[in-house]
Amino acid sequence: MRRLTRLIACGALTLALAGLHGMANAQRTALPIVDRDVHMGVASCAGSTCHGAVAPLPGIGILQNEFTTWQQRDKHATAYRVLLNDRSKRIAKNLGLDAAHTAAVCLDCHADNVAADKRHRTFQITDGVGCEACHGGAGRWIGTHIAANATHERNIENGLFPSANPVERARLCISCHFGDERRFVTHRIMGAGHPRMSFELDTFTSLQPAHFIVDNDYRQRKGSWNGVQIWAIGQAMAISMVMDRLTDPKQNRDGLFPELVFFDCHSCHSPMSELNWAPRRATGLGPGVPKLNDANFLMLQVIADRVDPELGRQLKERTLALHRASNQNFEGMVNEARQVKAIADQLVPRFAQRAFGSEDIRAMMAGILGNGLSGEYVDYAGAEQATMALGTILNAMRQTGIIDQGRFNQANSVLDKVFEAVKSDERYTPATFLAALREYREKAP
Ligand code: HEC
Ligand code: HEC
Ligand code: HEC
Ligand code: HEC
Repeated sequence: MRRLTRLIACGALTLALAGLHGMANAQRTALPIVDRDVHMGVASCAGSTCHGAVAPLPGIGILQNEFTTWQQRDKHATAYRVLLNDRSKRIAKNLGLDAAHTAAVCLDCHADNVAADKRHRTFQITDGVGCEACHGGAGRWIGTHIAANATHERNIENGLFPSANPVERARLCISCHFGDERRFVTHRIMGAGHPRMSFELDTFTSLQPAHFIVDNDYRQRKGSWNGVQIWAIGQAMAISMVMDRLTDPKQNRDGLFPELVFFDCHSCHSPMSELNWAPRRATGLGPGVPKLNDANFLMLQVIADRVDPELGRQLKERTLALHRASNQNFEGMVNEARQVKAIADQLVPRFAQRAFGSEDIRAMMAGILGNGLSGEYVDYAGAEQATMALGTILNAMRQTGIIDQGRFNQANSVLDKVFEAVKSDERYTPATFLAALREYREKAP
């Protein structure tokens, strides 16, 4: 199963306070896979004086080596190629597909699988998750985005996807890293051999790795967001999008059972000799029942309690009701999912408008550590999300100047042990996680 790679602190996380460029109506932008524009293919972006420089170029504000970074270090560049490997062959065989690299169910996430009439003659499906799978079909903007009077707003009008906006970025990433109405990794696909998936917007933006630097020039062009805010928006959007699927009759059940992908994988998949069950406040469930994967809920609760205590109170109540209903009856679960989604959708704009200054950042750290040490995050999925959150928060502390580089390095080396504890879900034990967390709390800023 997937391993959690350690977040490398990098310059991509933003510093300053919220800018709200392009927020209005942004929700309605079509995702690249269904946008109305022609997709040109990666080669169209890769010229050495465009985005294919070997090293960053000085001068125009952007790095211009984005293609080189993507090709050499970004897993999206190999997303198509993995469909040809043995694991994919096995998945395809188990699902009765002819081949993974020709099946839409795989190509929809592992490539820029746009309709045939949206593919320019230079387009190649073998590019995998190429530039336009995230930045939108370049048919209209490829010429105009290099004009002297080009602006980010005008590029967006011409079909550039607004990925600088964290709400839109979350919608984009999660559409493949969890799914949407069109693409979805079901438990059957996982049973056939697909790896487990997890996602955190700020961490994954850095891990990709980011091929952009958020500096003053960037902030002026695109607005600015700090890492904790991006994390917060990512958590609320994840819940909103997961609840969309859980309320979708085409995706929320599989024969006799609800779709198992919504549930905590390890509540079914763990050795029976490991007697790890313990009661948890946030679920209220007893032993021996599968529980919905609540990792994002655990994070969102901390953020909501801080930003909007009334919505936080509602979230807590509705989350407990959702867990209860998930073990009682299907319609009840779907109704509760709708209510939870409504709360998450109210939180998204609250987070987008909030500055997330130093008091907030400290409160998040205290909240995550407090709940973590009280045993709320001992299930693997929760531990994994909490660990990524701590990474994001620590980075934000350094970047907003709450702590200096020396203090950061010190804390970061202790945080490495927490990351080590969640590196592999198969070797994970709550005891090592809690011990690492305890040590981090002692030495954390
Ligand atoms: C909803 C989007 C989605 C769909 C549908 C999907 N995948 Fe994936 N797949 C992903 C993502 C995202 C990852 C990376 C997960 C991670 O590392 O966090 C991944 C990872 C993989 C990996 C592991 C790659 C590696 O680097 O080790 C394989 C193999 C794979 N997918 C094959 C398939 C096959 C075959 C299909 C079709 C049956 C398929 N996928 C359908 C999104 C999807
Ligand atoms: C998995 C999604 C993804 C893929 C694939 C991707 N990008 Fe990006 N890109 C982003 C995100 C997220 C940002 C940061 C938000 C923004 O500025 O829009 C970004 C930013 C950029 C920027 C803006 C930098 C700035 O300072 O304004 C450029 C230029 C860019 N990408 C070029 C490319 C090129 C060229 C490719 C293909 C070789 C590519 N991207 C592939 C997600 C992606
Ligand atoms: C079109 C679908 C798609 C979109 C959109 C997308 N991804 Fe991915 N992503 C994938 C697939 C598929 C993989 C696995 C590729 C592989 O392993 O070869 C992946 C892998 C990754 C990985 C590597 C994970 C690991 O285990 O090493 C990171 C990090 C990542 N994506 C971040 C992002 C971010 C951030 C965004 C949004 C800006 C994003 N992705 C948008 C499909 C997508
Ligand atoms: C409610 C219980 C339950 C949950 C939750 C659950 N699974 Fe499963 N899983 C099963 C069952 C039952 C099987 C089929 C076992 C068999 O065929 O013998 C299975 C099979 C699998 C297999 C195939 C194992 C093999 O022997 O080949 C994989 C991989 C898998 N699940 C992954 C996951 C992932 C990833 C998640 C979380 C997203 C998950 N499961 C959540 C019950 C569950």
